[in-house]
Amino acid sequence: MKVAGVAYRSVWVSPDDGWPVHIFDQTKLPWSLDILRLTTPDQVAHAIRSMQVRGAPLIGAVAAYGLCLGLRDDASTETMERDAAMLAETRPTAINLRWALDRMLTRLRNTVPSARVDAAYAEAGDIADEDAAQNEAIGRHGLPLILEKAAKGHVNVLTHCNAGWLATVDWGTALAPIYMAHDAGIDIHVWVDETRPRNQGAALTAWELGSHGVKHTVIADNAGGHLMQHGKVDLIIVGTDRVTRTGDVANKIGTYLKALAARDNDVPFWVALPSSTIDWTVADGLTEIPIEERPAAEVTDITGRMADGTIATVRVAAAGSPGANPAFDVTPARLVTGLITERGRCEASAEGLVGLFPEQRT
Ligand code: MRU
Repeated sequence: MKVAGVAYRSVWVSPDDGWPVHIFDQTKLPWSLDILRLTTPDQVAHAIRSMQVRGAPLIGAVAAYGLCLGLRDDASTETMERDAAMLAETRPTAINLRWALDRMLTRLRNTVPSARVDAAYAEAGDIADEDAAQNEAIGRHGLPLILEKAAKGHVNVLTHCNAGWLATVDWGTALAPIYMAHDAGIDIHVWVDETRPRNQGAALTAWELGSHGVKHTVIADNAGGHLMQHGKVDLIIVGTDRVTRTGDVANKIGTYLKALAARDNDVPFWVALPSSTIDWTVADGLTEIPIEERPAAEVTDITGRMADGTIATVRVAAAGSPGANPAFDVTPARLVTGLITERGRCEASAEGLVGLFPEQRT
């Protein structure tokens, strides 16, 4: 996607610079667009842990490049396995992280150490390219859902967290159909959940949509139900960090409440994902998906730009009150209208998923 007319991906290796890995520091957005140059697996692990990069598909692609950086120093099997284990521990919920590392290891374990660096960069590059292509396909498969609702002249979509190009290598998942609808001239407006505690909606989704010229309004997370009751939401599209083989959906905390309100108000609730987000080993999302518990300070405090332009973190909770911060929740498949994948749309169910991915039937 373009920023001020310049085409970017969310992770890249620059031809001018050879091997280091570049990312945007998402903790600095929307206030400044800072590019970080990562040169070691430890820096990559820090970037993922601290959420300089975040979003399930992007975490996977960046971790794959993290393995490449380590192999440049030491291509031994021992170091490679140690780096992969270290990177896999950085965030627990998004399955794309483990998926990408497993894919890298599958190739690299079968490659002699002297050929590993080239093989690793090639595989990481493929992971990044495939993610961008899959998200574009998700956009195409999601677009008809928006067109159908836009038949009355305009359409209001609600989204939660950031599942745009910043969360993937390019395009985004939930936002890809929105960008395509906008580019096709559809009168589309997006309700952007602010997405406390870290405000990925207010900071990242709003910035992305604004940069692309898409009409949007930031709302408090609690406003969605009210808007649905008053007919102001035509459909919801969200991303996901892990989908079970039965169609349960883990996503940013608060997603489940949106799905409940959507069901009560007959608002379609769609989930957009590349197949790298499906965990075929897991059937029950509620008991089998690990939910990341993040620092309480993300809830008790809030970061923003002061009137003088400085970025500051201030406490919003009463002094001394503890906070709790489960970062994701699970929406049961029964509340999901359907899934939008790179192969098309399907019901959120085991049958729906294997219908699109028959190679997983066993
Ligand atoms: O904690 P985050 O910001 O990494 O959470 C991101 C989300 O929950 C996204 O909705 C999800 O990763 C899908 S991104 C295409």
